[in-house]
Amino acid sequence: MSNPDRNARVTRLVRGMPASDGAGVRLTRVIGTSQLPDLDPFLMLDEFGTDRPEDYLAGFPDHPHRGFETVTYMLDGRMRHSDNHGNEGVLVPGSVQWMTAGRGLVHSEMPEQLEGRMRGFQLWVNLPARDKMCEPRYQEFTPEQIQHVEPAPGVVVKVIAGRVGGTAGPVYGAGEAATAPVYLDIALEAGASWQYGLPTGHNAFVYAYEGGVQVGEHEHARNVGAQELGVLGGGELVALRAGDAGARLILVAGKPLREPVARHGPFVMNTREELMQAFADLQAGRF
Ligand code: CO
Repeated sequence: MSNPDRNARVTRLVRGMPASDGAGVRLTRVIGTSQLPDLDPFLMLDEFGTDRPEDYLAGFPDHPHRGFETVTYMLDGRMRHSDNHGNEGVLVPGSVQWMTAGRGLVHSEMPEQLEGRMRGFQLWVNLPARDKMCEPRYQEFTPEQIQHVEPAPGVVVKVIAGRVGGTAGPVYGAGEAATAPVYLDIALEAGASWQYGLPTGHNAFVYAYEGGVQVGEHEHARNVGAQELGVLGGGELVALRAGDAGARLILVAGKPLREPVARHGPFVMNTREELMQAFADLQAGRF
């Protein structure tokens, strides 16, 4: 508030790029592009949002992952996932699936609808070397299991991971993740404002998916419009103020791992040798 050294500001502003993934799903890639290849510990952010079934019907048939976590947050639509370990379920609007791929699995993510709106995000979170070969794990939450708080007038925050005041998100409830993630879905009415204190040392970004939001204060204030991502830096206190149309955004933060990244498609390891091993293990059916 009064100490400007603690105020976060937008150090980079990037727009998502149209991309296609899976069997031809059209989406917007925001992290994982040539503009913003990663933001340690985040490796990728995709927004999918469309009313056109032809954009999503092909889905994401069987594909592997190893060495990181995939976080799917649905806003609209239904998606069925199933993996080669026998796990299966349907993601509904407002639900979150935080999947720790660890040593590896093969799964599919397919739309559970033939028409209507499909909207949400998939975020990839890196794992530290010590956890890359852990057993795969799911943390899956229904909308009812994710608490909403109203920390200021006209501000509603869904706490998916991390804390807002006394409210903790259900993901990594025991706080054991090396990246200590924060994932908030924030709705601001027109003109509403709120200030949030990030954990010290985290890398962080805001991504506006409706309306626009001013981030930072005074001469450092910068507007983040719809479908824009603002990389945050310079301090822990994130001051948000919605524009005339209000704003919906995600605020995501994590402790950087500062480890070498060897990455190829769905495998994210520390060395080239570990990547080669991942291919060999997949071919030998060891996922
Ligand atoms: Co996947």
